[in-house]
Amino acid sequence: MRVEPIIIKSNIKNYTAYFEGNDEFLKKLSQLENSVFVVDEKVYNLHKDDCLKYINQDRLIILQISEERKNIDTVCELYEKIMAFAPRKNLNLISIGGGITQDLTGFVASSLYRGVNWIFVPTTLLAQVDSCIGAKTSLNFKHFKNLVGTFYPPTEIHIYPEFLKTLTREDFYSGVGEMAKLHIMNGEEDTKIFIKSLPLIDKLDSITLLERTQNCLKIKKSYIEDDEFDTGKRNMLNYGHCFGHAIESSTNFAISHGQAVVVGMILANKEAVKQGILSTENEEFIRKNVLEPSLVVKVPAINPEKTVEAMGQDKKNLGKGLALVMLANNYQMVKITDLQKEEAIRILEEKW
Ligand SMILES: NC(=O)c1ccc[n+]([C@@H]2O[C@H](COP(=O)([O-])OP(=O)(O)OC[C@H]3O[C@@H](n4cnc5c(N)ncnc54)[C@H](O)[C@@H]3O)[C@@H](O)[C@H]2O)c1
Ligand SMILES: [Zn+2]
Repeated sequence: MRVEPIIIKSNIKNYTAYFEGNDEFLKKLSQLENSVFVVDEKVYNLHKDDCLKYINQDRLIILQISEERKNIDTVCELYEKIMAFAPRKNLNLISIGGGITQDLTGFVASSLYRGVNWIFVPTTLLAQVDSCIGAKTSLNFKHFKNLVGTFYPPTEIHIYPEFLKTLTREDFYSGVGEMAKLHIMNGEEDTKIFIKSLPLIDKLDSITLLERTQNCLKIKKSYIEDDEFDTGKRNMLNYGHCFGHAIESSTNFAISHGQAVVVGMILANKEAVKQGILSTENEEFIRKNVLEPSLVVKVPAINPEKTVEAMGQDKKNLGKGLALVMLANNYQMVKITDLQKEEAIRILEEKW
């Protein structure tokens, strides 16, 4: 069964996400002229004897990644290594890895020769279902996460679920959290399909993963095509992220991004009930059937004051109060910018 590609319209250039049932695409990519591959070291070691065997060693840069290395120094390292291959402006940069590899190589692709052809193969579920489209590239600067960046899409994205078999359970479920978010945002029908698919997603069933991933990208596409530069509608994708980001930073990243987003959705829904825009029945239904089953890690101890302070420092927070994206009845999304700190602390202190 074939899952159809998706074309994403962009102000920069339109691009396509392909859903791959076998590794034939890697064979083809390795035959491209003027190409340089940049591959996450862990991914390379895990897959060099299977689907990555086609990559020519002379054209390969192995990249060690970590949040600490997602910065301009690593970008400069990459410029050096790429230029050592003496490539020309018609270079094809092919990168293979998760969101960190995407952010680093996307930044390189957007800046080298003011932009070279870039093909991205996401290998984490988070990168496949969410970050691979949207055209954002981000680097950390000192302690500021994702402070520096550009808008630059790849020309092609190839999604191949076989890579996911070597992810840790926490990294896999980080992606499941984002998958849950997008399905909820698209309404009751998609939420119910997601609930039904969860056991197969958990078993890494390829066709279920490809279908659900295609759906996630279609949903994200509907938010980003109208607002590529994130000034309005795209903000709604921050559902779960207002509390989520703050929990990540106040716990020193003791929880993965997508798992923090699940906690963030639980808390945003609690506030929505308090504000009378979400019924208790809907909150309970979503928590018990979608959010709790998508949360597989032990949530670290959360310090409410520290977390609220981090919410106030979020770069997306422009108003006087705190910003919060909430789910309302009939699966409508609502954004407020005047959440009071005391109220946010109360929500964080509640048991759930
Ligand atoms: N640009 C965007 O739009 C955007 C959106 C969301 C997140 N992000 C960024 O993405 C990053 C998080 O992404 P991520 O969760 O994909 O992280 P990641 O790239 O750090 O990957 C997570 C871990 O999994 C390993 N890994 C990757 N693929 C694997 C595989 N197939 N098998 C085994 N291990 C594998 C990596 O080496 C790493 O240890 C953050 O830096 C975040 O800021 C960017
Ligand atoms: Zn996210």
